[in-house]
Parts: sequence; structure tokens; C-alpha cells
Amino acid sequence: MKVLVIGAQGMLGSDLVTALNDKFETAGKDIDDFDITDKAGSRDAIIDIDPAVVINTAAFTDVDGCESDEKQAFLVNAQGVKNIAEICREMRIKLIHISTDYIFDGKKGEPYLEGDQPGPLSVYGRSKLMGEEYVKTILSDFLIIRTQWLYGKRGKNFVKTVLKLAKKQKELTMVNDQVGSPTFTMDLSGAIIALLESFSEGIFHVSNEGYCTWYQFAGEILKLTGFDNVNLVPISSEKFARPAVRPHFSKFNCKKFKEVTGKTMRPWSEALANYLKYEIDC
Ligand SMILES: NC(=O)c1ccc[n+]([C@@H]2O[C@H](COP(=O)([O-])OP(=O)(O)OC[C@H]3O[C@@H](n4cnc5c(N)ncnc54)[C@H](OP(=O)(O)O)[C@@H]3O)[C@@H](O)[C@H]2O)c1
Repeated sequence: MKVLVIGAQGMLGSDLVTALNDKFETAGKDIDDFDITDKAGSRDAIIDIDPAVVINTAAFTDVDGCESDEKQAFLVNAQGVKNIAEICREMRIKLIHISTDYIFDGKKGEPYLEGDQPGPLSVYGRSKLMGEEYVKTILSDFLIIRTQWLYGKRGKNFVKTVLKLAKKQKELTMVNDQVGSPTFTMDLSGAIIALLESFSEGIFHVSNEGYCTWYQFAGEILKLTGFDNVNLVPISSEKFARPAVRPHFSKFNCKKFKEVTGKTMRPWSEALANYLKYEIDC
């Protein structure tokens, strides 16, 4: 079975291609190969590759950048996804699409289930939600996998930022009123493969187990890397104003994933410790 990963140069896409390569014939493509906002070009490329499954990890992922470029956010995260879904319908390809916890408003007060009411607070969240809606409307055979707080080997991420700052500063301020589950892209890649192999359909929530605030996440990073001399100061989201509003509590309930695959994701702190054993370029 041939699997095509779109967004293969990205943080998740690059680890996903590595993981898929062990089991499937895998093709990885990114914007230099074709742009998902160009339907004709994407169609030609996908016909040429002829995959049985497409996994779309491509997105405009700069959450704050989306606020100042709403047009581009919707072009990539909604119209681009619509293009890929229509091509998959025409060619009878299964689509696995990656989405986000930022489609929720974070006000539920307990872990989010797949069927909970969305309420995005940002342009990024609204554009990703529209992408999901297109997938659900256009296709009958699809998987939408929502995830959160990703870090991986390639590109920028929170872990690398904390380590970079810790090398230069004696004190770091971190937001302590947003709660989520840090998720390692290698672990998520394994979960995506497990869902693919289970022949499941529909929406799934997948993250590493457990939860924390960004402040607690930073604390664990510093502890595991021996930066005990850095003073970590908790602050509120209000004091750390950013262009895009983030949900305060977006932890997932991943019960459906466990039931369907029989697998449980490891705790986020264990995954983080494993990640830190790799040589991280920061
Ligand atoms: N990062 C997180 O914490 C997080 C959390 C929840 C969900 N997600 C979702 O997980 C998925 C993967 O995220 P990620 O962090 O791995 O993203 P990423 O590192 O930004 O990778 C996305 C890749 O898609 C490419 N791309 C952008 N626009 C494209 C287009 N029009 N056509 C083709 N390729 C395009 C990007 O190329 P350029 O770099 O050249 O733009 C990049 O290589 C996304 O769907 C994201 O919404 C991420």
C-alpha cells in the first residue's frame, strides 16, 4: 500500500515519513513539490504518485501569523484541504487529515471529546475548523486526527525555545494558565499508523497522556536538561499578550483512540525525556 504524506518537510510530516517507511511504501511531498492551494497542480502530482492513502499534515501553522494574514490562513487551512479532499474523493483515496485542539474554546472545564461543540478563538482555529468541515462534507472515508502542543526533531518548537533561552537568561517567564498535553511527533506518528491499520473512520483525539501548563512543561524541560540555575516565573496569559487568543484548557479525552487501537500513549514527561536524548538543534 502506498501512502503519500503532504507537508513532509514539516515537524510532524518529517517524523511521520520516517515512521511510515518501516511499514509502507511512502512518498513525502511538500510545498516545493506542489502547493495544496493549487488544485490542478496537486491533482496532477497525486495522480502521478497514485497513493491508496493521503495523510495531510500541511498547514499554515503560525498561530499568531494567521491573525495578520487571515486570507492566507483560510486559503491553506480550508481551501487547500478542500482541494485535497475533492481529489481524494475523485480518485477514491482514503484521506487522513491532521487538526488541532485550537478548534475548541477551552471553556468546557474537562477533557474534550470528539463530538464536543467547537468554538475556535483564533483565525488559525477557525480556518482549521473549516478544513475539518470540508473533509467531513466531501468524503465518507476519512480520518480527522486532532492533536496538540507538538514538538519534534525538525523546525522550531517550545522545547527548543526554552533550551535556547535557558542558555542565555537566568530567568524565564512562562504562561501558567493554559493547560494541554505536550505531544511528541514520533509518538503521534505511531498513533496515526495504528489508526490507519485499524481501518477506523471519523474524528479522533490523540495526545500524549497527562497534562500540564506551559510553565510546568518548561519546568520539566529545565529539570531534565540540568538547567537548575534558571529561575522560572509563572505569568498569566493576560500578562503575556499575543495576537491570537489560546484556549485555557484544551486537554483531550483520548478514550476513543484507546478503544479502537488498543493502545495507550505514554505520559508526556516520559516522551519528553526520550525526545531529549536526541541531538536537538536549538
Ligand atoms: N505544531 C503544533 O503544536 C500543532 C498542534 C496541533 C495540531 N497541529 C497540526 O499538525 C499538523 C502538522 O503541524 P506541524 O507543526 O508539523 O506543521 P509545520 O512544521 O508548519 O509543517 C507544515 C508543512 O506544510 C507545508 N505547507 C504549508 N503550506 C503549504 C501548502 N500550501 N502546500 C503544501 N505544503 C504546505 C509547510 O511548508 P513551509 O514551512 O514552507 O510553509 C511545512 O513544511 C498541521 O495540520 C497542524 O495544524 C500542530
